[in-house]
Amino acid sequence: MGIIVSGMRPTGKLHLGHLYVLENWVKLQKDYDCHYFVADWHALSTTFEENSSMKENTRQMVTDWLAVGIDPEKSVVFVQSDVLSHAELHLIFSMITPLSWLERVPTFKDQIHQLKEQGKDINTYGFLGYPLLQAADILMYKADAVPVGEDQLPHLELCREVARRFNYLYRPIFPEPQGLLARVPLLPGIDGRKMSKSYQNDIAIGAEPEVVKEKVNAMVTDPARIRKTDPGHPEVCIVHQYHSIYNADKLSELEEDCRGGKIGCVACKKLLVASLEQVMAPIRERRAEILKRPGYVEDVLVQGAVQARQKAEETMKEVRQVVSA
Ligand code: TRP
Repeated sequence: MGIIVSGMRPTGKLHLGHLYVLENWVKLQKDYDCHYFVADWHALSTTFEENSSMKENTRQMVTDWLAVGIDPEKSVVFVQSDVLSHAELHLIFSMITPLSWLERVPTFKDQIHQLKEQGKDINTYGFLGYPLLQAADILMYKADAVPVGEDQLPHLELCREVARRFNYLYRPIFPEPQGLLARVPLLPGIDGRKMSKSYQNDIAIGAEPEVVKEKVNAMVTDPARIRKTDPGHPEVCIVHQYHSIYNADKLSELEEDCRGGKIGCVACKKLLVASLEQVMAPIRERRAEILKRPGYVEDVLVQGAVQARQKAEETMKEVRQVVSA
């Protein structure tokens, strides 16, 4: 069975944009030996000053993972910082990696620049080494494939380069993992910008029906449309973009009715709320079930850490042996 590794920073409750990433993780459990972890050290690389909610965010996020169908009986579910050897492997990789490899990772300069505009200086050693820590996360479990978003492909490229260099310098113990891009629909936030909790334009996975309704009601529609009978322009409407995912079968009909001024925005939004509820209800129910069992999420993570440490230790034994021969 192929080996899969993937991680997410602990951002707390997840939103609809994450749901498709998670559904892909859930599917992979059937055919692969999966390792899913909370990348809390990675989060520290940009938020070392605002670390107060790390534990709570981890708990919330893992609750969502389980509610969506990540199954701890099938997958190893753990927190990165519970497996200290990730740091050890990162250190060893840092010895063999030329600085220029890290400096040319596109996300490096981009993100420093972006965060500087928000008044944040992350010109740190840890931030530069971020993709190397990610390589350690992945190679530790000898992953064959890593389900990630497109933005992470440069990190995987670096991961393969590091594996190749290690294998060449010492002994060939690491595979060269491939990125697995899932088809994830582009879901904007309710204001049309990228969906993000920090913009408060997100819809949480398993949100209460009133909240979903409120969010959908706040969605930006065609500003030129004042009366129901005015012809609408679905191409500029966020609600319509959501319908293209949640009501794909009725899309052409909806579009026609909108352009012809036959369906108003209120009715159109009502329809979307109902479709979202179908997606949300089962997740909300499972979330509630999980929360009824005190200590369950913590137990899952303790068990996961035990399994992960065991696998990590096997790799580290090999690594130590060939590095300090
Ligand atoms: N860098 C990833 C992100 O920001 C998170 C991550 C850390 C990761 N380590 C990983 C993803 C290993 C896949 C595999 O989204």
